[in-house]
Amino acid sequence: MMLVSLLLILLQVCSQLMTAVAIPTCLLNGHVVQSAHHMLRDLGGSFPVSCLPVNINISFPSSALPAAASANPLQCRKALWVVYESLQEAGLVFEEDLPAGLTWRDEKLQRFRHLQFRLMEEGQCLSGVDGSVVLSSYFSNVTAVLEQQGSAVCGWEALRRDLLWVLKSALHQHHNCFTWGTKTPPTSG
Ligand SMILES: *[C@@H]1O[C@H](CO)[C@@H](O)[C@H](O)[C@H]1NC(C)=O
Ligand SMILES: *[C@@H]1O[C@H](CO)[C@@H](O)[C@H](O)[C@H]1NC(C)=O
Repeated sequence: MMLVSLLLILLQVCSQLMTAVAIPTCLLNGHVVQSAHHMLRDLGGSFPVSCLPVNINISFPSSALPAAASANPLQCRKALWVVYESLQEAGLVFEEDLPAGLTWRDEKLQRFRHLQFRLMEEGQCLSGVDGSVVLSSYFSNVTAVLEQQGSAVCGWEALRRDLLWVLKSALHQHHNCFTWGTKTPPTSG
């Protein structure tokens, strides 16, 4: 009897291990994305009214994110890719020195960067997902605004607003596409 239960336990452990191996490592941890969202939200105030004119040039292509919550793995991959790519591109901007006049809380910005970096490592294999042209068009528009004399602050604010939207929408609409374990999945693979 003892032996049988021992065998059963072993079998269970084995099948759990097998499942863990079978899960693709190309995933993003939902908790980390959520923390990154909160850091980004809390590092500054709401979008300044004085920056509204920048919306003509910077408006996130919301259609890039698959609309409905769905168990479809392709939709999941696309959604995670949009999160990954947006974080990656925004990260390149946020690496620069803050433009004069932008009063973001540095400690929270550093913590955001740290989480962002972690997600970049974790989701590395997402970079191979077929991209959408519309997203690169968006980011070149952002860059154009950032390079314009006097509009950098609003460019940063608009990028932060849009990135918050991306993270929040993805977490809500594609909740099941993220991993929600307490442990970060392995980054290799
Ligand atoms: C980028 O800007 C161009 C010109 O202002 C505009 O036609 C295009 O729709 C913008 N792209 C995105 C994704 O916002
Ligand atoms: C916004 O886009 C228009 C047309 O593409 C351009 O002429 C203008 O300089 C841009 N404004 C900023 C702040 O980049």
